[in-house]
Amino acid sequence: MLVNAASEISGEIGEDEACRLGEGERFRVLSDLHLGHDQSVIRRVGDLRPLLVGGGTVVFNGDTFEERAPCYREKSGGMLAELMELCREEGVRPVMVNGNHDPERWGRDAVDAVGGRMYVTHGHVLLRLVSPWSSKLRGCREEIEKMLAAAGEWERLTLGERYALTRAVCLRMPPSETRQGSQSLAAKVGLLMREVWPPTRPWEVMKVWAGLPRLASEFAGRYRPGAKAVVFGHTHRAALWRRGGRWLVNTGGFVTFSRPWRVTWDGEGMVIERIRVKGGAFGVEGKRVMALG
Ligand SMILES: [Fe+2]
Repeated sequence: MLVNAASEISGEIGEDEACRLGEGERFRVLSDLHLGHDQSVIRRVGDLRPLLVGGGTVVFNGDTFEERAPCYREKSGGMLAELMELCREEGVRPVMVNGNHDPERWGRDAVDAVGGRMYVTHGHVLLRLVSPWSSKLRGCREEIEKMLAAAGEWERLTLGERYALTRAVCLRMPPSETRQGSQSLAAKVGLLMREVWPPTRPWEVMKVWAGLPRLASEFAGRYRPGAKAVVFGHTHRAALWRRGGRWLVNTGGFVTFSRPWRVTWDGEGMVIERIRVKGGAFGVEGKRVMALG
């Protein structure tokens, strides 16, 4: 029943909705909510209200809904329905974008905004193997490598081909059903111990983090040369880089060990704020404004 509720929401949003926001349209970006997943720090959807107050357009930039994990799908669908209700209450127009946890759910892989000067995408399209650090790759890597090889040279793919291939890789990988149990310190330590095994895994994570600004910069140079800012999430580590006259923003995610950011286009500049839990609900602090020159 709860998953059906999510289907109805999809119909309301309209999957063929244009993925462009008007030049003057103000909007916010929140990424990687992972509603219903054990690792999500969102216990009650209502705690997100302060991040939505003020209405307008909010881009939920992927990994909002646990589409693929059977153990989380029902809970996630219920929380998604609550999120849409919260948006209605606050006068928010939600613009949903696919992530690797919801690769087919929204029929939209990216948003072009600010007259093409800002590009918003979940970020898994930057990585050939989507999650190269994942232990889930062990049983399917060979098949995925064959799939990628058959598609031709990665750098020469059109953007549409690249998103389609990335989606195929997501669907081939087993879903993330990692269990954390609770937000207690013991549960977090337990998760950390599992996350750093095998010992090659932290190395894979560091390689991705180190290479991400170059990959994002090359991606934008090839597919969105006019973009002055690329906003993405996926790796759950918030960061801001400046490469080739372009801002690259990783918003982090609402999961254990991550401190997410909210990105806003306020009509004049790109505003980045840290998200913190304040009095049981989420709030923002530490405003930085960047011009898209
Ligand atoms: Fe994520």
